[in-house]
Amino acid sequence: MIRSTRNSILTFVHASREECERALAAEIAECVARSPFAVFGWATGSTPIGLYRELASLHAAGRLSFARASCFNLDEYLDLPAGHPHSFATWMREHLFAHVDFARAHTHLPDVHAPDPEQAASRYESAIAQAGGIELQVLGIGRNGHIGFNEPGSTRDTRTRVVELAESTRVDACRTFGSLDAVPRRAITMGVSTILAARRIRVLAFGRAKAAVVHALLHDAVSAECPATFLRGHPGVELHVDAEAAG
Ligand code: F6R
Repeated sequence: MIRSTRNSILTFVHASREECERALAAEIAECVARSPFAVFGWATGSTPIGLYRELASLHAAGRLSFARASCFNLDEYLDLPAGHPHSFATWMREHLFAHVDFARAHTHLPDVHAPDPEQAASRYESAIAQAGGIELQVLGIGRNGHIGFNEPGSTRDTRTRVVELAESTRVDACRTFGSLDAVPRRAITMGVSTILAARRIRVLAFGRAKAAVVHALLHDAVSAECPATFLRGHPGVELHVDAEAAG
């Protein structure tokens, strides 16, 4: 693993994806051992799957318990029926919640079935604050520079809200949904400032497809054109990549 600071972001280039997942899972286990009531922020997508597998195996080995911890997911699609197989709620159950011991009432995703989604978004923002804020946020990055579903154009001061998904985000989601028509057009996402309020942020990016956006995160001007650039200057951010994503 090679460690360096680039444009104020502590960057770790790992020999493999698995090395990165083990390191981050160990950090999460240590965090919750020290602070059992810790609040975590989770991402979905292909990037964190191995990390969640690693957390599940630490739990199975008796080395990690989330029994008193709580968590908030970054985002959730709007306009899907409850229990939809491709909702992030279903995804989190399959990839993490079914394999660790979070109390169900302590796992939170935006309430996309509320009659007023904007109000539900504000309630989500308040719930995070009431829980004491997020100690450690896991983040992936979209190829277009989005974090959560803060698509290009999202400013630094954005809070949890209803957003329209970018075309490229919907095209990427075709892999899961099977066709573009089936991909939702809207979501509720934590805002950029909601994400930046987390005390530690761990950004993960793996594979060649992420090399360009990793370069942009580290070197482009900080701007809403690439919302990931707003992570620069956060005192607790780390970027964890494999050699391919490091370019
Ligand atoms: C997921 C999320 C997104 C993803 C990003 C990368 O909850 O908020 O920002 O982290 O789109 O997705 P993958 O990991 O599938 O490349």
